[in-house]
Amino acid sequence: MPIVKLSSLLHSAAESAYAVGSFNVSNMEMVMGAVQAAEEMNAPLILQIAEGRLRYSPLAVLGPMMVAAAQEASVPVAVHLDHGFALETIRLALDIGFTSVMYDGSQYSLKENIAKTKTVKALARKYGADVEAEIGRVGGAEGDYKSVDVLLTSVDEAVRFSEETGVDALAVAIGTAHGNYKEQPKLRIDRLREIAAAVRCPLVLHGGTGLTEQDFQNCLANGIRKINIATASYDNVARKIKEQLTGKPESNYFDISHAAVAGAYESVKKHMIIFGLKDKADTVGLTGEQYAKL
Ligand code: 13P
Repeated sequence: MPIVKLSSLLHSAAESAYAVGSFNVSNMEMVMGAVQAAEEMNAPLILQIAEGRLRYSPLAVLGPMMVAAAQEASVPVAVHLDHGFALETIRLALDIGFTSVMYDGSQYSLKENIAKTKTVKALARKYGADVEAEIGRVGGAEGDYKSVDVLLTSVDEAVRFSEETGVDALAVAIGTAHGNYKEQPKLRIDRLREIAAAVRCPLVLHGGTGLTEQDFQNCLANGIRKINIATASYDNVARKIKEQLTGKPESNYFDISHAAVAGAYESVKKHMIIFGLKDKADTVGLTGEQYAKL
């Protein structure tokens, strides 16, 4: 199965009413664990890395590895830049062969966010790649940035933004935040429903770590088509490595590497089960009707 575009995965998700898991990775072990889970589940996968993590995993090194893993996988995999801010980073991701990029202009006014997103959209078009953008502001911080408060997405702004920019996926702020929650958030499913009814492009949920199964079900029943998970995987990789080392001081590098793969695998598989992604790889490229007739 060749590497696929984000829009192709999200189109199939919309046709068959599910959401694709988009999993942040930071090294080869995490890439391998995520692909292993997707292949075992026969599920579509989005591999992503955020600009805020590139200090630890340079894009020029990890990016080609993500693309190669997608090309080698037996299930459809899209490769995505998460929270891109600098045009040079976005251009590098596209040069490496990422099938989509997120431009995060959520710190700007609506007008500026629209203008900057249009520039990214024009650049991505030259590569045949898709663009995700954010309207409103998801809370917390993905990577090395200052934590921000949630700014709920307004329906009117979401409509104007998606129409003027023509983005392929729109991240909305409905009460989630990046990182571990100190208090369980109360999601604004009412707002999500209103946005989904008014906007044609697929909607993205950031800040997936720590949400309840019911939260996920409510989101995917009300128009979310891509769900981002980062912290849960990083935490599980760290936990598996600590577990490996506890009481086993003789552990060698390869034992630790194996634990890291297992940590990512477990986190990705757990979320794919919650999102109902078993065998959804078979829906990619089909309409809902065609899939139902299989
Ligand atoms: P979490 O770290 O809360 O899972 O958020 C992931 C995310 O939204 C990446 O953009």
